[in-house]
Amino acid sequence: MPILPILRLGHPALRAQARPVDPAQIPTPPFQQLIDDMVETMRDARGVGLAAPQVGVPLQVFVYSPPLQGEKAEDAEREVRVLVNPMLNPQSGELVYDWEGCLSIPDLRGLVPRHPAIRVLGLDRTGRHLDFVATGFEARIIQHEFDHLNGVIFLDRMRDLRSLAFSAEWDRYMTGEGEDLDSTAVG
Ligand code: NI
Repeated sequence: MPILPILRLGHPALRAQARPVDPAQIPTPPFQQLIDDMVETMRDARGVGLAAPQVGVPLQVFVYSPPLQGEKAEDAEREVRVLVNPMLNPQSGELVYDWEGCLSIPDLRGLVPRHPAIRVLGLDRTGRHLDFVATGFEARIIQHEFDHLNGVIFLDRMRDLRSLAFSAEWDRYMTGEGEDLDSTAVG
């Protein structure tokens, strides 16, 4: 399975609106191959999520793989989830700040406010309907990847750019300010 090139900030595809996937296309070999390639690419890049626009495909699909508590991103065989045509409904609760990074903005981290819980509607990679509530770090990843489908990146969500940091400096100076988030936790 090929590793796909990940587009970086400045590529116009990262700012475009992705199209809904025709459900009839989900079981086809090209779409299934795209998902497999995205999973492989996400793992290779040691990310926890990857959206199709990040590999230049303007479709509403992303893959993600939330690390379990204390787990490192190297544990590559953890569960991968796929969301096609997702819709998010924030649940009640104050916005929560935590660190995020992005495979399309290599080496930067920043504090981003997100909803602590979201109801997620969409399809899985077999076309089955999904309807669940995500919380915590999973909710954060889903909101980050969902934003990519709408041409939005985490920098747009930051309320204060003063927390922006390169990974090495973040590791050295800033890890105490959010939850204990692995430095490879990027999408
Ligand atoms: Ni990202």
